[in-house]
Amino acid sequence: MTKPIILTGDRPTGKLHIGHYVGSLRNRVLLQDQGKYEMFVFLADQQALTDHAKDPQTIVESIGNVALDYLAAGLDPEKVTIFIQSQIPELAELSMYYMNLVSLARLERNPTVKTEIAQKGFGESLPTGFLVYPISQAADITAFKANFVPVGHDQKPMIEQTREIVRSFNHAYQTDVLVEPEGIYPENEAAGRLPGLDGNAKMSKSLNNGIYLADDMDILQKKVMSMYTDPNHIRVEDPGKVEGNMVFHYLDVFGRPEDAADIAAMKDHYQRGGLGDVKTKRYLLEILERELGPIRERRVEFAKDMGQVYQMLQEGCDKARQTAAQTLSEVKSAMGINYFK
Ligand code: TRP
Repeated sequence: MTKPIILTGDRPTGKLHIGHYVGSLRNRVLLQDQGKYEMFVFLADQQALTDHAKDPQTIVESIGNVALDYLAAGLDPEKVTIFIQSQIPELAELSMYYMNLVSLARLERNPTVKTEIAQKGFGESLPTGFLVYPISQAADITAFKANFVPVGHDQKPMIEQTREIVRSFNHAYQTDVLVEPEGIYPENEAAGRLPGLDGNAKMSKSLNNGIYLADDMDILQKKVMSMYTDPNHIRVEDPGKVEGNMVFHYLDVFGRPEDAADIAAMKDHYQRGGLGDVKTKRYLLEILERELGPIRERRVEFAKDMGQVYQMLQEGCDKARQTAAQTLSEVKSAMGINYFK
């Protein structure tokens, strides 16, 4: 019995924050430990380069950092193949064939890409590589014949485009080599996108409002103490608001079932008045430290031997490459362009 295949990846554009952790990393570790799937997790450095072409250094540095974040969060290279996109040339080759099956108009309609183009303000200098990255993403997914792709809601259009490419390819070449993937999306809205410390809807490096898996205890404490609460809760006796208060939002996300009663009681007390922000923040700090402390310790340990981390990545690349090469060979056979076989 072959296991269903799961594949997912991240753009290495910086260290991972706790939004990545609750939104996806934590779930990947659960999937890994179920042992029911064959899993691939990869660093999409080529995709990251589509909007960082002149700043490769950020991407290069992020490879080591994100690999450390993965290991620290509990991804186990014995159970999951961890690899780097740029080291698998078969992916670029697959993209070449898929490009002929996708119209320019279809690429321009992809809503996520459209939003990104507007946000990044490319204007007339939109790089071709950026516009076609959904095609390269289809190559990432199909090279491994992934059945399931756990991603954020913003990635739905990529999965949709991949499915179209698969159908189009299989139909055009009368084959079934490519597999239609399904997206797996976060069910928990609160965890699906964790807001920043300042209450901004997005936790991001550019907004400087995130907690990173690599942050030490001191930084974590400073960040928690600086969190946005209720600006009208001035004196301890004042009634405070729980909605939009980041401390309570994070408690809802990071609290465990056994904390539910304490958290409910705190919310009550806060809303009645008489509970200060420093107390709620200290409690949140404890809850966060319980989850992040062990991750941080593991990260420090792994970081002592970066040689070993890169060795792990290289082994992952070697393994991933075999799978991708097999699919590429099947793809070329289906098209009839494997002339010397
Ligand atoms: N686009 C994804 C992101 O921005 C990263 C990614 C690239 C990916 N290729 C993928 C995710 C393939 C899942 C499957 O986060």
